[in-house]
Amino acid sequence: MGRAIITIEADMLSQTDIELVQSSFSRAFRDKDNLSRKFYERLFVVAPKTKMLFKEEDLKKQRTMLFAVMAMVLKGLDDPDTLYPYLYMLGEDHAKMGVKPEYFQVFCEVFVETMQIADGKAKNEPLERAWRNAFSMINSVMEKATIDSGADFRQLRA
Ligand code: HEM
Repeated sequence: MGRAIITIEADMLSQTDIELVQSSFSRAFRDKDNLSRKFYERLFVVAPKTKMLFKEEDLKKQRTMLFAVMAMVLKGLDDPDTLYPYLYMLGEDHAKMGVKPEYFQVFCEVFVETMQIADGKAKNEPLERAWRNAFSMINSVMEKATIDSGADFRQLRA
């Protein structure tokens, strides 16, 4: 079966950015329980409406899955032909779960903050830029999928 061709506007990530986010994430991964908890706590403060999209009160499974999937996505950054169709499908699933396109930017902001906590540095510009570039690529594919899905978000609760 042929793969869908996905055209997006985002620039390719540089090899330096890829290495920066991969090494940053592997440092964060060691403390994944604490950091994933902080991530969702902060997400629900910044965007309270997103909380009701999650089926379970206890986000333990979700937290584990997010970090596992992020690890896989970051590993795939230098292979967009494989990564984009996966992200597109994930975006379609998210549209069905009621995730609006604009939530991806909030997600990025909170994730970058969380990664800064993980690295124990309030400001590290090249790393912050690398994370933003990575999310710009990831989010453009996922956002496009949610928009293309034609989901009518007005009918949703959040
Ligand atoms: C890079 C961005 C993201 C990644 C990698 C990601 C990853 C995932 C994965 C792997 C799942 C399970 C999917 C499935 O079962 O098909 C999931 C579920 C979910 N995600 Fe995301 N996600 C992202 C962004 C977002 C955003 C922006 C929101 C909005 C707040 C969100 C909310 C959810 C919800 C509500 C679920 C379902 C949870 C449940 O079943 O209770 N995600 N996410």
